[in-house]
Amino acid sequence: ALISLRQLLDHAAEHQYGVPAFNVNNLEQMRAMMEAADETDSPVICQASAGARKYAGAPFLRHLILAAIEEFPHIPVVMHQDHGSSPAVCQRSIQLGFSSVMMDGSLGEDMKTPMDYDYNARTTRQVVDMAHACGVSVEGELGCLGSLESGMAGEEDGSGAEGVLDHSQLLTDPEEAARFVADTKVDALAIAIGTSHGAYKFTRPPTGDILAIERIKEIHARIPDTHLVMHGSSSVPQEWLKIIDQFGGAMGETYGVPVEEIAEGIKNGVRKVNIDTDLRMASTGAIRKHLAENPKNFDPRKYLAASTQAMKEICKARYEAFGTAGNA
Ligand code: G3H
Ligand code: 13P
Ligand code: NA
Ligand code: ZN
Repeated sequence: ALISLRQLLDHAAEHQYGVPAFNVNNLEQMRAMMEAADETDSPVICQASAGARKYAGAPFLRHLILAAIEEFPHIPVVMHQDHGSSPAVCQRSIQLGFSSVMMDGSLGEDMKTPMDYDYNARTTRQVVDMAHACGVSVEGELGCLGSLESGMAGEEDGSGAEGVLDHSQLLTDPEEAARFVADTKVDALAIAIGTSHGAYKFTRPPTGDILAIERIKEIHARIPDTHLVMHGSSSVPQEWLKIIDQFGGAMGETYGVPVEEIAEGIKNGVRKVNIDTDLRMASTGAIRKHLAENPKNFDPRKYLAASTQAMKEICKARYEAFGTAGNA
């Protein structure tokens, strides 16, 4: 059944677990997260970005999620719009039937330019007024997601704009978070606590202090009724990295957020954990390996089945590690 983000995360807060929010772009990702949820009895957050709508087309994306709900009627599903760049984008998603939207007013409509507090609060409040009138939940974002290690914004290809941000700008301020929640009435808030988007988060193996746990505690204490969201939460699985590079890829050395640190974040108030890169890596690794080992195959169902299976294993592992399992 389709439920709102508020409904799901209220339950998660009451029972002290976290929920991975996986990005969906195609049938294989959708099947992977639903079959994993079915086998572990987990509720699901599937989120679609503007890029996903451009890739699949809004109607196909919408019906992909509706098909998941039809095939797995016993699994609660949140249909969430990831990183909405404007109130207009959020409005279109509400019209499409999404049960939750993210208004990311920390950045401008180009999704690149950092914006000031007033712009962020004003546009987010506009979306909350619209969404709540329709029973739709809203996630906002406060702070600038970057890598605490390098002081640079994460870039998909590993080329970051070095030195543009200092450490204090990279962590969400607890007092400002309290003001933002009072000003906007968001249901959930994405906070900057040491993570960044993409596969190139850290250049060295993490040593156990990636997340600003003290900061999570401070923010959670100030806004206990607002669900905290952690973006950039991929773990960059080293086993898939090896397979990708072994079978013709060139991702190079890179590290993500260890699953144990995410679990520690969940203990301290994080409820929604955004993961995209890990499924991309599992899919690409499985397809590269399948094609290299089966050079005669030209049936896409064979390598796409390998992709689905690889992504499904990641989904199951996250449902188990975050305590989501058993809560459907
Ligand atoms: O936050 C970004 C997500 O990983 C979605 O990426 O915009 O390429 O679909 P995308
Ligand atoms: P990753 O790039 O770490 O998977 O983060 C995805 C994300 O935050 C989507 O909003
Ligand atoms: Na989001
Ligand atoms: Zn994100």
